[in-house]
This record gives sequence, structure tokens and C-alpha cells, in this order.
Amino acid sequence: MTDRRPPWRSPRSRLGGPPDRVDADVAVVGGGITGLTLALLLAEAGVDVALFERDRLGAGVTGKSTGHLTTLPDLGLARAIGAHGEERAASVVDAMARTVDELERRAAALAPQAFERVDGYLFAEPEGDVEALRGELAAARRLGLPVTEDAPPDLPFEVEAAMRLPGQAKLSPGVWLEALAAAAREAGARLYDHAAVTRVRGKEHVELASGAEVRADRVVLATHTPVGVDPLQTEVAPHRSYVLAFRLASGAPPPALYWDTEEPYHYIRSHDGLVIAGGADHKTGHDDPAEAEARLERWVRARFDVGEIIHRWSSQVYEPVDGLPFIGESLLGRDVWVATGFSGDGLVWGTFAAQVLADRLTGQEHPYARLLDARRVDVKAGTKDFLKENADVAKRFVADRLGALRQGDPESVGPGEGAVLRLGRKLVAVHRDASGALHQREAVCPHLGCVVSWNGVEGSWDCPCHGARYDAQGEVLEGPSTRGLKPREH
Ligand code: FES
Repeated sequence: MTDRRPPWRSPRSRLGGPPDRVDADVAVVGGGITGLTLALLLAEAGVDVALFERDRLGAGVTGKSTGHLTTLPDLGLARAIGAHGEERAASVVDAMARTVDELERRAAALAPQAFERVDGYLFAEPEGDVEALRGELAAARRLGLPVTEDAPPDLPFEVEAAMRLPGQAKLSPGVWLEALAAAAREAGARLYDHAAVTRVRGKEHVELASGAEVRADRVVLATHTPVGVDPLQTEVAPHRSYVLAFRLASGAPPPALYWDTEEPYHYIRSHDGLVIAGGADHKTGHDDPAEAEARLERWVRARFDVGEIIHRWSSQVYEPVDGLPFIGESLLGRDVWVATGFSGDGLVWGTFAAQVLADRLTGQEHPYARLLDARRVDVKAGTKDFLKENADVAKRFVADRLGALRQGDPESVGPGEGAVLRLGRKLVAVHRDASGALHQREAVCPHLGCVVSWNGVEGSWDCPCHGARYDAQGEVLEGPSTRGLKPREH
């Protein structure tokens, strides 16, 4: 039977929740790679830091990462140069390479088994993509990267052209988070799990679901997208990304990292003899997840002699409008700091963000302190269509309300299914569980009022606007919302 979780595990140990009142110099919200790395760096610098994770450490996006570490930005090198200029693109690539080097150095000390250097290959499979591939090669050479035009020797299918870049890496997310958490605690950081933050009013006032209060001089939202309402949520678009882990029927697992030039792209790596393939991304709440997963499976089976799928899961990435993350003080001020828009490079940018934030919060110099500043004013929508993304949000906001005009019947919802129905004057998210019990919540997302849609693959309600997700009973799974879907009023 397929396991709906990755083959690696996030830290299992339960840390325990906080006391009713916590005072700290810095409160970090979120126990993924950004939050844990930041807690470690701050504690090492002598800062009194407390970290609050809604679930278990690593239970969010980091634990679902495939550990594919690349020093190339997700938006592509040619686009990076086109949108941001050669100098800035070179800084981005240099920042990523330095971050992977730092991860290697830290891992050697804390958990050597978590990190492995491998080659990376970007490949063009259809002939029509060769020009784009050669464009990446030319851009890489302009930026001084040691690339070569080499076909990957280990793939069991033909490619038209490929770019090889040595010095990429694999990271084991579960092992790494465990090591970070242990090191952070040893350095003096206080880590709390099952400690959901419900409100951030700014510095000196963070409220937790337990009723506990946190007073801190600075608050860092290391939550993938800021919790609550933040202007940056209009500059990043949530996407679901799918992963399948297959047992091979014949042949050896490919040893490097591979990704293609298609959009959305596919990527491949191996883990413990399994072939891990990812991709088929789509905007959260906008496509059929089952169809996306099936597309990815067809893609793999057409290229590898694989058997059973051992693990399958999906995760969320936030695509920034200009292709680069936002890291620094929130536009809202109040000494609230944010880090978001990591695209598919979350482990690298999460580590980088922690380094930048740690230095800025302790008054240290960082060579790239302002490179990806969250308050940058030169955001260009050249790489993602900013207007289109936001028009899309507005369209969902209105169309979902007008579109569901038919009165629904909860009896039409079968076991394991979910549907948004108009019941009286309300749009209702109706789910019937396997035992036949009906669960009904208001379908309006409490974040900013868009209408959620049912994700049948994961049994969740997904918001198409800023990516909040709720479980089948309407409780928060992830995203900017801090409150679950309201119970239906009769
Ligand atoms: Fe913003 Fe739902 S996540 S409206």
C-alpha cells in the first residue's frame, strides 16, 4: 500500500507547549528549516530566542521537501539576467552556492549523513526546448558557472541536450531538522511544538491558541508565507507540487539530480534505491490534484521501468512575482520580520534567510543583507505575470460566489468526498467521512474571504487565493489563515 508520506521522517519527539507567558528577545514562529536554523544562529549569538511550531517540528513544508539542493534559481538563469540584470543574477547564484557550502560545513559538524554532493543536470527532452536549454548554458557561462554541455549518462531515456553543473547536493530533511533542533536547544534556544500562533499584533504581542502570550522585541514569521494578513501575500502565488517514489523494476537508480526544461518542470533523484520524481505543479485550488498526480505518474512510467509507487505526497511552494524571495522586515513594520517566496528552492533559501535575518537582528554585516529585501521597491513582474496572478485572485473571489448558484444537496456527497454547495444563502464546504458522517463548514476562507475548493487527493479544503489549507473538518493545515473554517450556521 502506498504511504502518503515521504520516506524520510520529520523529528518525532514531542517538545511540549509553552507556559502561559513567554518573554524573549526574538520570537520565531515556525519550526521548519528557516525557523530552526534561525533559532540556532541567534542562540549561538547569545540572543534569547523562543520558537513556536503549530504542529511537530518539520511537519510543514520542510519535512515534505525532496532535499534537492541546487545552486540555480528556480526562475532560470536567462530569466534571472533578463529580469534583474547580470550583476544581481550573479549575486543570487553566488548567494545560493555559498548557502549550499555553508550547509555542507554545518552538516559535517552536526549530521554528516544528512548531506551529499552530486552533479546536477538540466535537460531538454523535446527538440523544441533545445534553444531554451542552450540559452541557460549561455547564461550560466556569462555568470561564470562551471557548466558543460553533457548528456546525463545514467538516464534510461533519450534527451536532446543537457547542461551539467557539478557541486549540487542532496539533503535529508528529517535528519537535518533533527540535528538543527538538537543544536539549537543545546545553544539555549527554547523550542515549543503544538503551539499554534493565532495572532501577531506586532512586537511584544503574539497570542497562541493555548491562550499563552508571548512578549518579544522582534517577531520572525518563518512560516513559509506570513501568518495573518501581510501585503507580501499579493506578491507570492501558492502552488501545489507533487512527488512520487517508485520501486525500480529494472536498472539502477540514477545517481545525480535531474530536471527538465518543461513548464511545469519535472525533476528526478534517488533515495534508498527508490526513484523519486516530482513536479506537475499547479496553482493551489485551481486544478484537479488527482489529474496532476496522474500526469506525473504517466511521465515517469513512460521513461523508467518502474513498479509500485511506495510513497506519494504533495507540498506547497510560493512563487514570487519577480522570481526571487522576500526576506526582511515586513512592510507592516512593528518589528515583524518575514521570509517567503522560496519557489522550489526552499531548503537553500530557508537557510539563506535564516543567515540574513540572524545577522540583521544582531546588527552584523551580511554581504547580501539587502539582495532580497522584503521591502524592495524594484519588484518587477517580468518573470511571473503579477497582474494576471492578482486578477486571478479577484476572479476566484467573485466567480466562486456567483458560480455556485445551484442549490446543493449534502446527500449527493459520497463517503470520502467533499463539495462546495449552496445551501440556502450560504456556500458550504460539505465532507462525508468514511464512516458516513457529514461535516459542514462555511466555504469562505477566514483569511480574506475567497471560497475554498475540495482537494480529493489529500482530503483537504484548499484556498485558491493565498494558499491556506484546511483539513476535512475545516481545521487549519497551513497557509496564512490562523483560524479554521467556521462551522455552518443553520
Ligand atoms: Fe487568503 Fe484564503 S488564503 S483568502
